[in-house]
Amino acid sequence: SHVQDMSTEKVKAAKDMAFVFDIDGVLIHGDRLIPEGKRVLEILNGDNELGIKVPHIFLTNGSGKPEQARVQQLSNILHSPISTDQFIQSHTPMRALAEYYDTVLVVGGEGYRCREFAEEYGFKNIVVPNDIIAWDPTIAPYRVFTPEERATSRPRDFAKTKIDAIMVFSDSRDYATDMQIIMDLLRSENGRLGTVAKDPESQRIPIYFSQGDMLCPTEHPIPRMSQGAFRIGLEAMYKALTGVELERVVYGKPELATYKYADEVITSWMDQIHNEEKLPKNIYMIGDNPASDIIGGNMYGWNTCLVRTGVYQGEGNDENNPASFGVFVNVLEAVKTAVRNEL
Ligand code: G3P
Ligand code: MG
Repeated sequence: SHVQDMSTEKVKAAKDMAFVFDIDGVLIHGDRLIPEGKRVLEILNGDNELGIKVPHIFLTNGSGKPEQARVQQLSNILHSPISTDQFIQSHTPMRALAEYYDTVLVVGGEGYRCREFAEEYGFKNIVVPNDIIAWDPTIAPYRVFTPEERATSRPRDFAKTKIDAIMVFSDSRDYATDMQIIMDLLRSENGRLGTVAKDPESQRIPIYFSQGDMLCPTEHPIPRMSQGAFRIGLEAMYKALTGVELERVVYGKPELATYKYADEVITSWMDQIHNEEKLPKNIYMIGDNPASDIIGGNMYGWNTCLVRTGVYQGEGNDENNPASFGVFVNVLEAVKTAVRNEL
C-alpha cells in the first residue's frame, strides 16, 4: 500500500543518515546532564515513529580515561547504553601508534590512568614523568614528590633507557615538571635522558598530542587552558632553546585523521545495528565549538549543527566557521530539524 511504501522509504532514509555527537557542551557539562541530550538518545535508539535505530557515534576531544570506563560513566549520566564501538575520544585513534614505538613517555591525566589505557592500547614499555622523578628527583627542581607518589612509581635506570616517542594523552597536571622532562627528551640524543644532542633535528624523538583545544570550559567562569596552550608553550620553548621549529603531530578534532577514523567507526557501527557495512550518505555533526567541531565537520563535508549550550553563546551563526546546517538552541532541536530534513 501507499502508506507502507512511504514508511519503507523513511526507514531507508533513516539508515542513510548518521549523527556524530560532540560530548562536552552538547550532551553534558562535566558530570551534569543536558536534559535534551537524554531525549535525543532515546529517539535515536528507537523511540521514534518508525521504531528504528538511527546510527550515531560520539566524537569527543575529551581524554584521560580508558574508553570502557568513560562510556560507562556517560551511559549513567545520559541514561542510555553507549558502546565503546560507537565512541571516539581524542586519544582513541592513537592506539595505532603502539606498533611503531616500544618505549613511550606518556604525559597528562589524573594519577596513573593514562598509563592504564596506554597498556590497553598495546604500548609495551610505558614511562610516566613520576617514574623519572623517582629515578632522579633533581630533574624537576620545584617538584614536591610525595612518599605515596614514590611508592606507586616505577623507577628504572633511565640513563640506559631509550625512549622512542612522547605521547601527550591528556592535560598536564604539572606544567613545570612535564615541560622540563619533555624538553629534556626532545633535546636529548635519540631519547636518552642525561644527554644533549648536537643536532637537535636529526636525533629528536617524535612527539604526539591527543588534541589541540586552546581552552576548555570548566566550573570556573572563564574557560581554562587546555592541551593546545600547553603545546604552544612547548613549541616556543623548544624554538628558543634550539633555534629550530618543533615538528609534532596533533590528533583530535579538527584534525583530518580523526574524521577519517570516525568514518570507519560509523561504517562498522552501521554493520552492528543494521547489518549493512556502509557509510550513511548524510552525516550530521552536532557540536558547541566552532573552532573544533564545526570547522572540522565543514572541511570534511558533513552537515554541521552548532548548539548554544556550550562554548558558543553568540546570537547568529559563527562568523569565522559558520555551521552549514545552522545554529540551534540545543541538541534536541538540531536532531529534530535534521530528521525532518531527511525523512
Ligand atoms: O577540551 C577538551 C574536552 O573537554 C572537549 O570535549 O566533547 O567538547 O570535544 P568535547
Ligand atoms: Mg564540546
